[in-house]
Amino acid sequence: MVHYHMMMMVSLSSRILLLLTRTLVVLVVVTGNQVKDTSFSRDDFPSNFVFGAGSSAYQIEGAVAEDGRTPSIWDKFTHEGHMPDHSTADITCDGYHKYKEDVKIMSDIGLEAYRFSISWSRLLPYGRGTINPKGLEYYNSLIDELVAHGIEPHVTLYHIDHPQILEDEYEGWLSPRMIDDFTAFADVCFREFGDRVSHWTTVNEPNTMCLGCYDSGQFPPRRCSPPGGAFNCTAGNSSVEPYIAMHNILLAHASVVAIYREKYQAKQKGFIGINVYAFWCTPLTNSSADVAATQRATDFYTGWVVNPLVFGDYPKIMKKNVGSRIPSFTKRQSELLKGSFDFMGLNHYFVAYIKDNSHSNPTSGPGYFESDTNVKISVTKEEMPPGPFLPTSAPYNPSSLQNVLEYFRDYYGNPPIYIHENGFGAPHNETLNDTGRIHFINGYLESMLHAIRNGSNTRGYFVWAFLDLFELLTGYDMRYGLVHVDFENKDLKREPKLSAQWYSDFLKKKSVQVIKKSENLDINKLSHS
Ligand SMILES: *[C@@H]1O[C@H](CO)[C@@H](O)[C@H](O)[C@H]1NC(C)=O
Ligand SMILES: *[C@@H]1O[C@H](CO)[C@@H](O)[C@H](O)[C@H]1NC(C)=O
Ligand SMILES: *[C@@H]1O[C@H](CO)[C@@H](O)[C@H](O)[C@H]1NC(C)=O
Ligand SMILES: *[C@@H]1O[C@H](CO)[C@@H](O)[C@H](O)[C@H]1NC(C)=O
Ligand SMILES: *[C@@H]1O[C@H](CO)[C@@H](O)[C@H](O)[C@H]1NC(C)=O
Ligand SMILES: *[C@@H]1O[C@H](CO)[C@@H](O)[C@H](O)[C@H]1NC(C)=O
Repeated sequence: MVHYHMMMMVSLSSRILLLLTRTLVVLVVVTGNQVKDTSFSRDDFPSNFVFGAGSSAYQIEGAVAEDGRTPSIWDKFTHEGHMPDHSTADITCDGYHKYKEDVKIMSDIGLEAYRFSISWSRLLPYGRGTINPKGLEYYNSLIDELVAHGIEPHVTLYHIDHPQILEDEYEGWLSPRMIDDFTAFADVCFREFGDRVSHWTTVNEPNTMCLGCYDSGQFPPRRCSPPGGAFNCTAGNSSVEPYIAMHNILLAHASVVAIYREKYQAKQKGFIGINVYAFWCTPLTNSSADVAATQRATDFYTGWVVNPLVFGDYPKIMKKNVGSRIPSFTKRQSELLKGSFDFMGLNHYFVAYIKDNSHSNPTSGPGYFESDTNVKISVTKEEMPPGPFLPTSAPYNPSSLQNVLEYFRDYYGNPPIYIHENGFGAPHNETLNDTGRIHFINGYLESMLHAIRNGSNTRGYFVWAFLDLFELLTGYDMRYGLVHVDFENKDLKREPKLSAQWYSDFLKKKSVQVIKKSENLDINKLSHS
């Protein structure tokens, strides 16, 4: 019985993380297909709207021990064999050497912007101080190459990959010392690259990150404790560490935004924001308990990051349920946080059905994220069976994107938004004829257009991912790229998939065709241009 109970906890915890990650297999069931012209075109979006695709440093660069780069927390984690497929990103797509070829492919597709991140341990191998000239040269060359091809660089400063040396020195985000070190790293990036970078994002998905790194332990530095932890961590405390790490991340974000605004923004004329993993929560039933649980889930998953930046504090329900385990902001910190963004970046993949769980047997000892939230989450209307690594599929339901955008419009005062990630994961042996991905992207673009026509201040959209790359949860088991990479081939040959051709036709305003599900969104409401 105890064993079964533990298994349940383990599976619930890993399920939440899986719900929060892009590495979900999104299998689209296409029934009753018909081929139609798509119902909208590039011209339906504002001319200053940008379309692009994305990646992140550890996931695309490879060359992990080359030219002065030191290990990040991901190198230690993968080298200890913690990936389900035992892979590492030592080489991955070799983006470090192939950036010119890659920018050429982006340009051929017609990408207007490229979202990528800077590896802290490549630029500042000791975490602070000495700049690595080769790292500086690499990012300068990549940015120059993008600009030369008319592609806007949208740069993420931190994509869950700080130097291991800072983890060893003071446990990374668990220490407020990260605030100063991250600010100094960002300062170097602004000073060296800011003349050419239009959009800066401080941190990618702090919500997923704090749960993966400090609650389930599924991400490095692999810290967790029962009942929250799922991954046999050797250290950690799932009751408090996710909340402490988020607190330091938010303060670091605000500090970085403050120096950008003070020292660089007037001259460099760029924009700065943060990123959040935002799935749409909808009640499983109309019971008032499930409706309340849905707002609670939204507050815990999205409000945890966004409320402090918009309102200056965590959601009330979090403060109530988490109590003294969630740190509080001083008045000054709260003022620094409030309004500390020019835009919000959202990573959106699916809708979650929320069921109240507040009458379940309370766990003994202090709570942790899942018992604090007290909801059950499922990506279908069926309750998910126990067992690890669930779910492996989520139904195609693109209206969730419109719902999220309209929630930000109504609840957060309609800030400028970039969809930083949205994409379709397929098994590693998918063919170049990736019609499922075309169907998926088309549906979400259409949903986003509905929101824009309804007044959402959305400014850009990035497909995850530009290339097939190392996925943070599944390694090479799943592919999200518009462009196929042959990882078996030593040249890591790139080949655009059909979806790249489709996206290209859309961006170049050629007529495009998609395989559409007949019971889709009401396309009659979209005017044709
Ligand atoms: C954790 O350890 C137990 C016992 O050694 C093992 O059965 C289980 O598979 C491990 N879980 C993970 C996620 O590594
Ligand atoms: C985690 O921290 C809380 C609060 O300090 C404490 O009550 C609890 O015992 C700790 N849990 C573990 C597993 O160390
Ligand atoms: C909730 O109520 C609305 C309106 O009464 C109805 O359309 C919807 O199907 C109901 N949802 C569920 C999950 O029962
Ligand atoms: C991919 O592999 C799975 C099983 O591993 C198989 O069922 C499927 O047919 C394969 N698909 C292709 C396109 O080869
Ligand atoms: C691609 O797949 C679709 C359906 O999945 C099929 O209708 C089409 O013929 C395929 N095209 C090629 C070039 O294989
Ligand atoms: C937004 O658009 C949908 C249809 O796509 C409509 O049902 C909804 O009422 C619109 N208005 C607002 C204010 O959200």
